[in-house]
Amino acid sequence: MKQLAGLLVLLFAGCAGMAVRGYAAETSMAPSHGISYPVGWRNWAVIAVSHRTDNKTSRVILGNDTAVKAARSGKTNPWPDGAVLAKVVWKDTQLKDWKAATVPGTFVHAEFMFKDAAKYSESHGWGWARWVGLEQKPFEKGMQVCIACHAPVKDRDWVFTDPAILP
Ligand code: HEC
Repeated sequence: MKQLAGLLVLLFAGCAGMAVRGYAAETSMAPSHGISYPVGWRNWAVIAVSHRTDNKTSRVILGNDTAVKAARSGKTNPWPDGAVLAKVVWKDTQLKDWKAATVPGTFVHAEFMFKDAAKYSESHGWGWARWVGLEQKPFEKGMQVCIACHAPVKDRDWVFTDPAILP
């Protein structure tokens, strides 16, 4: 029994250590376009998925609590201040044991839209940021790159994604 308790303590300490290391890595990440790295995004909920056939990539669209609440109650035009949307992109690959299944392969980048109508009034109410590759190198080519491509959906508060239907 004592041994088991000791093992549990060790396990717990190990997990806590891992969590702290992950958090430290996230908080020390350099900003993109002056925007801080969104700590904890790996645990956000899914809003939708998408698959691009032109560049063969799979994507998951995630949201922080504010974004997920808005998505699930249909309050997305405009999205509320404080909402953060993430798009995480991987190169397509095939599932080893079932080739017809397309699954995420090499990680490409994670990019984010931070809603704050006043703070980001010069970029249509959103802060636009991207971190590239597993090393999460900040993208610094300017928000205009993002905005130009999102222009077709300016009447939908600059967001392409419709939240996936859930039961
Ligand atoms: C080549 C065009 C293009 C560029 C450049 C681009 N996006 Fe997008 N983005 C899209 C499209 C199309 C979608 C819709 C879903 C998809 O791609 O799978 C999207 C979706 C998103 C989403 C999910 C919410 C939504 O609008 O559907 C985020 C977050 C996002 N982009 C952020 C960015 C950021 C930040 C940048 C700049 C660093 C950027 N995008 C640059 C085309 C682009």
